[in-house]
Parts: sequence; C-alpha cells; structure tokens
Amino acid sequence: MQFEELLRKYDVPVPRYTSYPTMPFWNVEEFNLNRWLDSVKKIFEETNHSKGISIYIHLPFCESLCTYCACNTRITKNHKVEEKYLQAVVQEWKQYLSLFNELPIIRELHIGGGTPTFFSPENLEKLVNGILKQGKIHPQAEFSFEGHPNNTSRAHLQQLFKLGFKRVSFGVQDLDYKVQKTINRIQPFENLKEVTDQSRELGYESISYDLVYGLPFQTKESIENTVKQIITLKPDRISFYSYAHVPWLKPGQRGYEDADLPSDVVKRSLYETGRKLFLDSGYVDIGMDHFALPHDALAAAQRNGTLQRNFMGYTTTSTNLLIGLGASSISDSHHGYAQNLKKIEDYEEKIFKGEWAVFKGHHQSEEDLLIKQCILEIACQGELQSALLQKVMNKSLFEELSVMQEEGIIKFSQWGLKVTDAGRAFIRNVCSLFDQWMKRVPEKRLFSKAI
Ligand SMILES: C[S@@+](CC[C@H](N)C(=O)[O-])C[C@H]1O[C@@H](n2cnc3c(N)ncnc32)[C@H](O)[C@@H]1O
Ligand code: SF4
Repeated sequence: MQFEELLRKYDVPVPRYTSYPTMPFWNVEEFNLNRWLDSVKKIFEETNHSKGISIYIHLPFCESLCTYCACNTRITKNHKVEEKYLQAVVQEWKQYLSLFNELPIIRELHIGGGTPTFFSPENLEKLVNGILKQGKIHPQAEFSFEGHPNNTSRAHLQQLFKLGFKRVSFGVQDLDYKVQKTINRIQPFENLKEVTDQSRELGYESISYDLVYGLPFQTKESIENTVKQIITLKPDRISFYSYAHVPWLKPGQRGYEDADLPSDVVKRSLYETGRKLFLDSGYVDIGMDHFALPHDALAAAQRNGTLQRNFMGYTTTSTNLLIGLGASSISDSHHGYAQNLKKIEDYEEKIFKGEWAVFKGHHQSEEDLLIKQCILEIACQGELQSALLQKVMNKSLFEELSVMQEEGIIKFSQWGLKVTDAGRAFIRNVCSLFDQWMKRVPEKRLFSKAI
C-alpha cells in the first residue's frame, strides 16, 4: 500500500496515550478516594528513595483568549487572583505531605497552564519555595515551565532560573499573521527571538516550542514559512500538535468557521511538510508529535532506551508517582489516576475547607498495567519485547498486527515487534491495537485525529 493510502486509512481518531486507560475510559464509578490516597502512600514509600517523585502544577490564568485553545484556562486581567490561588496550591501540597513518612525527593517539577508567566516573578518564587521548602531536590532534578513569548519577561526567566528551572517551553503555534489574527494571538517573531535569546543567555539548557498544525487558514506554504523561521532559532525541542477542534467544549473555536479549517487531506500534508523540514534540519522524530535536536536529553533518552511518557508528554525521568496540584490537575500513583476539580472556585473552596480537591479517578487493574507498559514501550522506544508481547497476544491482535506488518508499519522478529521508520507516522495507531478499553467501548473514541 502506498504511503498516501496508509495515511488515509489510519487517519482515524486515536488517543495520544499520555495515560492508559485514557481519561474517557476511566472507571469513575468504582473510584474511591481512600483507596487512591492509600495507593499514593504506598508508592511513595516504595519509590521515593530510589526514583524520587514528579510534581505538576497547573496555573490556569491567561490575560486574553487565543480562540483555538483547548486548555483549561480562565481569562482575566485581574492579577489579584494570583495570591489566593497560590495559597491553595501550597495548601494542597501540605495535604499530600501529610500522607508521607519522610520528605519527598523531587525529581521533576513542571509548571503548566494556562500561562504560568501570567503570575509575577515574585509570586512564582513564593509558589516554588512553598513547594521546595518541604522537600529535597534530587541531584538530577529537572524543573521546567511553560511561558507565553508575549509576557515572559527577563525577570521571569531570571527568577525561575535562580530557583533551578533549566527548561522552558514557549507556545508559538504559528507565525503567519492571518492565522495569528484569526486565533486572536498576535505574536511577532521578534518577541519569540527575544525570549529565546534571553533564555540562552541566562543558561537555560533546553528551549522547546509548541507548534500546531490544522489551524484556520494554514496552508502548506504558510506552514513551510513558519517552520523555516522556527528552525533559524534552533529550539532544542519542538512539539508539533494536531489541532483539536472541539467547539462544543471550547466555544472560542466558534470565532472562525469550520470552512476556514484545512481539509483532512491538507491537514495531513501540513504535518508531513513540517516533519520533513524538521528531519532535514537535523531534528530527530521522538515519537508522537515531538522532535528534538540530537544533543537534547529527550533525543539522548530515546537513543538509550530510557525515554518515558506521562501526562506531561515525553520525559527523561522515570518516577512512579506524579502529583498534580491545582485546578484540573491529574495525578498518577502507578496504581491509579485522580483528577482535581476543574473550576477554580470549586478547587479553592475544597482546599481551604481542608478537603481533597480530587473529583474523579481510576484504579488500575493488572490488565491495565500490563497494557500500559506495552503502549508506553511502543510510544517511547518504538519497540515491544516478545516477553511482554506474548502476555497480551491473542488471535485478533495477531491478525491486526500482521496486517500492519504487510503494510510495512511494523516488523516482527524473534526479539519482538518493531515500528519501522516508515511506520513512525502511525505509532498512535499501533498503540491503539493494544487498547482494550477502546475495543470494549468503541463509541467513546472522541479524540483528535492520529496524524
Ligand atoms: C498551556 S498552552 C502553552 C503556554 C502558554 N499559555 C502559551 O500559549 O504560550 C499548551 C499548549 O497546548 C497546545 N494547544 C492548545 N490548544 C490546542 C488545540 N486546540 N489543539 C492542539 N493543541 C493545542 C498549544 O500548542 C499550547 O502551546
Ligand atoms: S494558548 Fe496559552 S495563552 Fe492562549 S488561551 Fe491557551 S493557555 Fe492561554
């Protein structure tokens, strides 16, 4: 089958597998808060010393709405909201600390949003100190944050660098004026260059850009121009996301017409155009949506077979406990997942009452854990060892994988299963063959398209 035909065949909704089961399939009816907290305690005691823990903090505020955005945000120009929210996050951290028998060793800390740089440098310092003063920093700790190029000041960069942040990721999305105007995100190239130069000057080790393909009015030519300009700034990492169009959840996306969006065929060609330019410029394809320069830790982890994946996407650290703090944040205790209330006021109210803000979750079965391991190995290493493969193999999976082998997407060997170079574009589709939840309840396939 020709590559074009395969692209058409496999352009079906499949998840990005930052968790397994993916959130729509969580068994929320059976979720029990005490069982969740016990699982956090248990995994902490087992792995704090060997691996340390990861923390994700969600800071949901932005000053203006980019209409394409599908993140959990609150639009406001009132910066008085910062103080109360920060108090709640530090308070929530104290709730988790009360479960632990010793100080946590912090291996990974990521601040995402919304726009973390909505907060003043002083408030970010308060927040990070509030977390770190009740923990030990792992010698190989990795601290990162998301910044908007329009409002990330030198003071932000300096403050966070001083606190140990060495990685920063900037939202770019697209550099074309018409696209930017349509999504209400005017962001000149000069702003991006300035924050990038400043970050490098200050010593940030890894600078990452987010780009999105499939936005309104994007064309092959416009994406080519965007990517070519991006490449001149040599970001260490690039996330190249497929635009998720969910206007029933995000009414801002009704700010443009469906007809303004590229067709499925054009959208696919936007990805292929970007991907080719990245590869031709020396970037390595990390797996789902990610590219990195060979010197970057993500590319090195892929080479060494140590790449990991969690709710934050690909990562180089391998912890078993991720604690998500803040409204809508998700935590992962290896034995289960839990999500906090999404509405800021509800979240703050619960925390200030001394209650947990978790409102839903999932407990992992043995089967879930096994399949999660298979999916992660394929997503991170592009391979699956036969010992694991045999544990999940059944007749229908064998038939489906055999079709993919005939199509040149995977290859079976004595060693196991390997995704071929040509098959890398279909890695999400390979993962989805293992997804038992999706097979059991196929109508919940409400995801953005695979490619
Ligand atoms: C929290 S935002 C990034 C930080 C910061 N708020 C900014 O905009 O620069 C996280 C990323 O999610 C991606 N994203 C947001 N909405 C999306 C959508 N509808 N489809 C695909 N990716 C999206 C964008 O690439 C965005 O940079
Ligand atoms: S893209 Fe970033 S700045 Fe824009 S609304 Fe979304 S989170 Fe806020």
